[in-house]
Amino acid sequence: MTFKEDFPMLKKDLIYFDNAATSLKPRCVVEKMNDYYFNYGANAHRGDYQISKIVNEKVEETRKKVAQFINSKNENEVIFTNGTTESLNLVINGYFKNYLNATDEVLITKAEHASNILPWFELAKKIGIVVKYIDLNEDFTVSLDNVAKAISKKTKVISLAHITNVIGDIRPIKEIIKLAHKLGILVVIDGAQSVPHKKIDVQDFDIDFLCFSAHKMLGPTGVGVLYGKDNLLNRLKPINVGGGMNSYFDSLMNIEYKNLPYKLEAGTPNIAGIIAFSNALDYLENLGMDNICKYEVDLKKYLVEKLSKFNNIVMYNKDIENGILTFNVKNFSSRDVASYLDKNGICVRVGSHCAKILSEVIGINSTCRISLYFYNTKEEVEKLVQVITAIN
Ligand code: ALA
Repeated sequence: MTFKEDFPMLKKDLIYFDNAATSLKPRCVVEKMNDYYFNYGANAHRGDYQISKIVNEKVEETRKKVAQFINSKNENEVIFTNGTTESLNLVINGYFKNYLNATDEVLITKAEHASNILPWFELAKKIGIVVKYIDLNEDFTVSLDNVAKAISKKTKVISLAHITNVIGDIRPIKEIIKLAHKLGILVVIDGAQSVPHKKIDVQDFDIDFLCFSAHKMLGPTGVGVLYGKDNLLNRLKPINVGGGMNSYFDSLMNIEYKNLPYKLEAGTPNIAGIIAFSNALDYLENLGMDNICKYEVDLKKYLVEKLSKFNNIVMYNKDIENGILTFNVKNFSSRDVASYLDKNGICVRVGSHCAKILSEVIGINSTCRISLYFYNTKEEVEKLVQVITAIN
């Protein structure tokens, strides 16, 4: 199956292997954005005229679709943000800042993305909570045992990526959440790298908070989601206040906020992006999340098999079953490798990939990362191998 007609970028003479950073966008998503701007570009939740009502309906249609996509109980549990980073900051500063006390502990790992570390560090500095790290196994994965060992009577939150962005390991979040809930601990899941690639069922996993971005799953940039159980979101205090989220205020500072989801969505949202995200979700559902996941696992196996033939390629996560492969080429800096690949039309990410503390654990500051999506092909892998042969 070829996706060239749907994804104009695939027609360019390049191979895009940086899908963990952002995915390509299909025509139907971009066209839906344009349609909004060209044909009914009014604000949402503001006007009483016809095209404004259309905007409201379409924004709410996407909310409903997101709710179905992650199987949340109702669409009021879906809050639109501008991305995973904003979703995580909203949970940490709107919820946990108000309910945690000094010396309460939050558990994370050293493999988390900056957006699931820095807001906790800031909170620790502000209110004195303690950030502790769950031990990583030798292959940088997290086991339920290690989570259990890290928990103490003071643990109040566990905040983890479902799939990490450098190693790509899939954490056993269902089991972790079960254990946490038995002990009265809440769990925040950074789903930026998992929701685009794997079926997530927030009710089955019993997830408290889930954060993810549209742009890594065929949607526009500047749209994210915070899912939260409604009883938790009702206790979450808005960190942005202003238009659209209040139902009343007066000169004496009496204020009333709207109900969920609007009380957490101040200001004009990325309307075009939200509306177009709906087409991205349709696109993924039509392909089937299980098919996408299996295709990526198989393609990564093919990639690993091919790269294993080179003695000087060090792969840090070759046995992890998903579409991310992190590697270096001996005797070459990762930047030189990435720039050589780029010169040959192959886009990979290089550096610490926003997971700077993981570099301390791996003992290497910089790696090259290939991250696949369903539109990547064996032929592209073969071209990569051909290009890499020249530096071997
Ligand atoms: N978090 C994104 C990545 O891993 C930007 O590349």
